[in-house]
Amino acid sequence: MMAEEAILGYLENHDEISDSGQFATDSGLDHNDVVNVIKSLHGFRYIDAQDIKKETLVLTEEGKKYAEKGSPEVQLFLAVPQEGSISKEELQKLLDPAVYKIGCSQAAKNKWVQMGNQISRKVQHVEDRVKDLLLQIQDGQELGKDDNNSLKARKLTALQTWKGYSVKRGPEYAPRRRRTATDLTREHLQGGDWRNIEFKEYNFSAKGPPPESGHLHPLNKVKERIKNIFRLMNFEEMPTNRYVESSFWNFDALFQPQQHPARDSHDTFFLKAPATTKQLPEDYVEMVKRVHESGGYGSRGYGYEWKREEANKNLLRTHTTAISSRMLYALAQHAKQQSFTPKKYFSIDRVFRNEAVDRTHLAEFHQIEGLVCDRGLTLGHLIGVLQDFFSRLGMDKLKFKPAYNPYTEPSMEIFSYHEGLKKWVEIGNSGMFRPEMLRPMGFSEDVNVIAWGLSLERPTMILYGINNIRDLFGHKVDLGLIKKNPLCLIGIK
Ligand code: PHE
Repeated sequence: MMAEEAILGYLENHDEISDSGQFATDSGLDHNDVVNVIKSLHGFRYIDAQDIKKETLVLTEEGKKYAEKGSPEVQLFLAVPQEGSISKEELQKLLDPAVYKIGCSQAAKNKWVQMGNQISRKVQHVEDRVKDLLLQIQDGQELGKDDNNSLKARKLTALQTWKGYSVKRGPEYAPRRRRTATDLTREHLQGGDWRNIEFKEYNFSAKGPPPESGHLHPLNKVKERIKNIFRLMNFEEMPTNRYVESSFWNFDALFQPQQHPARDSHDTFFLKAPATTKQLPEDYVEMVKRVHESGGYGSRGYGYEWKREEANKNLLRTHTTAISSRMLYALAQHAKQQSFTPKKYFSIDRVFRNEAVDRTHLAEFHQIEGLVCDRGLTLGHLIGVLQDFFSRLGMDKLKFKPAYNPYTEPSMEIFSYHEGLKKWVEIGNSGMFRPEMLRPMGFSEDVNVIAWGLSLERPTMILYGINNIRDLFGHKVDLGLIKKNPLCLIGIK
């Protein structure tokens, strides 16, 4: 404000401020403040400002040092004893290496000292002209041409461009800035002020604040992309709108024995109310019981006593494969009544596991699952479909490792080479559903199902470069992440 008053006030009685730098010094103001005010007043046409540039001589870092501590030649001279002499080595120890080197040559040139193995003074007294000249420059004084040249040659001074303004009154000049109103208020209207008020002009090129709108969570963006990949591959989406599932569909229908550790409450969230399911397809339950207990279809089964109470227990589904088992059962029923129709199904939804939470695990996450049900499918088909699916996600290099699932045989873990991390990362699990799962549903022997599953979080974290899952999902997520993150493009082919 001080600078503004000073400039407008000065122009009331003077035609011009010829040099903003000089003006700042004379008024005891900082030149930067003066420049900022000039720019603003010029923008509102209170003043007209013209650029001025000046070359000024300033000291280099080396010049500044000598201005403070004296020139190297004088430092060297003073280090030589008044009487007698000093050896080169001794003298060198007393001085900074650069000062010694330059000092020697300049003091010898000035004939101040006698050089040799022993160094002695040739004169009694010297004056530090170089230091004096440097101080004069620091003080803003002008030097003669020869002095200027010699300091420049020794790289003790350099030219610096200085920018400032010359200023005159502008078309809108006033000794004080007028306050302009930005809004027409109720008070203006009631009090009649509106008649006299000057309103600020509209600035049509100003950027408005970005509109607040809804934002999709990164998981939803990736989910949508993956759904599109499945749709392009002609897969139908399975209805996954049930978090609560019975143990029967989640485990038993999948030939997962009732003593399996995953069925323990340490791994699975069981429901207290309602603790059990109301209804299961009784004929099918009977077939499942039989295959667990004694096998069939070329299998020996598990040879234990299968308990209905165990199958009735409600839980939060631990995988979306529970939905796949329901869908396949329905498909087999349809095949029995009418005819078999091959199907390609997918789902992406939430699952729950009673796990210790850490940087890569949460107790709830999302699973992506795909399956193909047709006659005569082989492991080759599974590998082919996986290559197709994952390459559409931008993962071309895949490796497979034999694995075990109670409901698939053979089973394969899927690894993809991550170019960024420069290593193979596990991205999913897959297999061919066992006859012990498919035959009790009612499928004929020649029908096979190939299937795979992966988490939605894993690829999302890789795509968005997030390395703690709690930064992606849950109550600690920064809303900024959701607002700012761009659409992530998975290479859909
Ligand atoms: N259900 C498996 C899991 O939770 C994934 C999977 C799906 C494996 C289909 C094989 C076949 O990890």
